[in-house]
Amino acid sequence: MCIKLKDQSVKTKVYSTFESPVLILDTQYLILNTMNNNYDKIANHYDTLSRLVFFKSQVNAQVNQLQYLPKDSSVLIVGGGTGWILEEIAKIYPSGLKLVYVEISAKMIALSQKRNCKSNQVEFVNLGIEDFGTDIVFDVILTPFLFDNFAEQRAAKVFDQLNEYLKKDGLWFLVDFSLNKNNGNWWKWLLLKSMYSFFKLLGIVEANQLIDMHVYFLNEGYKILERRMYYGDFIKAVIFKK
Ligand SMILES: C[S@@+](CC[C@H](N)C(=O)[O-])C[C@H]1O[C@@H](n2cnc3c(N)ncnc32)[C@H](O)[C@@H]1O
Repeated sequence: MCIKLKDQSVKTKVYSTFESPVLILDTQYLILNTMNNNYDKIANHYDTLSRLVFFKSQVNAQVNQLQYLPKDSSVLIVGGGTGWILEEIAKIYPSGLKLVYVEISAKMIALSQKRNCKSNQVEFVNLGIEDFGTDIVFDVILTPFLFDNFAEQRAAKVFDQLNEYLKKDGLWFLVDFSLNKNNGNWWKWLLLKSMYSFFKLLGIVEANQLIDMHVYFLNEGYKILERRMYYGDFIKAVIFKK
């Protein structure tokens, strides 16, 4: 069980008995959560599983977006998984980029550190993005298949945080599953439910449903530069400009 304090100054008392744990909470800031979306448990198999189910769709959706990366830019990657994207980025720009790679899973970070990033500068940060602070304002932010792990409250908070870290006119590469009344076939609902059940069984993912992040971007005045759909419109890749 993970008990995460958002505000370290807040007092909290935790008592437990043999029968059941009793929590006395002094604050609404305490998040009690057994699932924090950390992919440690499946880090070594994640890419194989992804390719088995989605073939190369998850990869293609992200690789296509890389043509929008400006030369010599500063890039924040959140939830990059095993780090294969770093090698794809290095194929386009072998040098000149300043990358910050924030990943909550220590195993994913270890795999990512083995990637060939050529001469780009990469800072690996093994933290949940919620706990990552920076003074840098980035040219580009990548969140590939990040938000579909989150419950609404966390998604909203992380969006606000990342919005602060992105320059005016900066680009945000969003890739996520997409399912709504307009594009919802039975197999997508079934697949989505199966995925959430699988990750719940492993105790990884907190979300029960997809959050529509689109409205967050539109409310903040982002413009869409490109929107592409993959895997029968089940995967949505959007380039937003702030
Ligand atoms: C669905 S996987 C996607 C991995 C990769 N983007 C890809 O497409 O292959 C989500 C990744 O986000 C990471 N993650 C989840 N919550 C996170 C958080 N709050 N901060 C940073 N990374 C997070 C997980 O550990 C996992 O590696």
